[in-house]
Amino acid sequence: MRTTVITTSSPDETVTLGRSIGESCEPGDVILLSGELGTGKTCLIGGIAAGLSVAEYTFSPSFVLVREYHGRLMLYHMDFYRIESPEEAADIGIEEYLYGDGVCAIEWSERASEYLPSDHLSIKLEYTPGIEDTRLIQISAHGARHERLMQQLRIQR
Ligand SMILES: Nc1ncnc2c1ncn2[C@@H]1O[C@H](COP(=O)(O)OP(=O)(O)O)[C@@H](O)[C@H]1O
Ligand SMILES: [Mg+2]
Repeated sequence: MRTTVITTSSPDETVTLGRSIGESCEPGDVILLSGELGTGKTCLIGGIAAGLSVAEYTFSPSFVLVREYHGRLMLYHMDFYRIESPEEAADIGIEEYLYGDGVCAIEWSERASEYLPSDHLSIKLEYTPGIEDTRLIQISAHGARHERLMQQLRIQR
């Protein structure tokens, strides 16, 4: 497993990191995000969308579990914050998304971990105590294809 920790100091920097991830994504990539509310998961996925050349991404909150965006590859943005059991993720046909040709980016993925593949990019976001706009972002690659994705990221370490 390959891991790196990145610090961003503004929402824009988090979007830039996401854009770099999106630019390097390949069909079937799975990105699992975790971190408290407000740490920037949606913000980062906005960057991933931009990197995939998605034109219609919206930051607005939604009550649907999965939103589909058209870009260089399809982007499936899922948010499991509101699910009460992992089976709710299975019920939306998550396997179709996970094992298709698009890219899956999943917030609160830990709420349905039993349905998620062992090959993935894991992104953990944390607040930095006392520094308002700074986030610690830990990225770990599981499996060869996601290690390749991580190697391609244009990030300062
Ligand atoms: N470095 C940063 N990266 C991302 N968001 C940040 C950062 N600093 C401040 N913010 C703010 O934190 C909030 C993150 O919101 P959001 O992306 O919706 O979080 P989440 O999806 O994790 O609940 C936004 O209001 C954003 O402006
Ligand atoms: Mg969110």
